[in-house]
Amino acid sequence: MAILKIARMGHPVLSARAAPVDDPTDPRIHGLIADMIETMADAPGVGLAAPQVHVPVRIVVLRIPAERTDDKKEVPLTALINPEIEALSDDVAEGWEACLSLPGMTGKVPRFTHIRYRGLGPDGQEIVREASGYHARVVQHECDHLDGILYPMRMPDLTTFGYVEEMSRAPRIVADDDTAAAAQADGRANNEDGAAA
Ligand code: NI
Repeated sequence: MAILKIARMGHPVLSARAAPVDDPTDPRIHGLIADMIETMADAPGVGLAAPQVHVPVRIVVLRIPAERTDDKKEVPLTALINPEIEALSDDVAEGWEACLSLPGMTGKVPRFTHIRYRGLGPDGQEIVREASGYHARVVQHECDHLDGILYPMRMPDLTTFGYVEEMSRAPRIVADDDTAAAAQADGRANNEDGAAA
């Protein structure tokens, strides 16, 4: 296993559409997944997509701590190969995101609140889950990486995009509603407790 270098925004590998994996049980794929898991844990982050480690294939890994999920149950360490997402309603919510490919930055991104996602596990078996809230957000963020999309490209309002450090210095930038202070604290937490993806 190895900790891999993470590509930052601007690297062409992050803008390309990643290729499907033909054989999820290929030992080379298992090696890549093991390295991605180690890299995510080291960063630390809650999710990582293969293009972020310079490999343009459709694989994401994620693990979401219990305190961040709607049902307060951990989303266990999961590797998803060739994942697909389906929105289960038109409901969209904005929330703060961070990304290991944009270190130190955060922004408010609209995402579907309820999704179903599916993909293959490293054993070739299908994984199908429903997700809401932060869990759904992380999955959408990671799968976007496979289509060359980084979270700022989803932001309708770039005034909420910036360096976490600077935004905590100037609260008025994000203080556009009553929840801004809490959201801002959450945005800071994103980079402090390893919630970057
Ligand atoms: Ni990311």
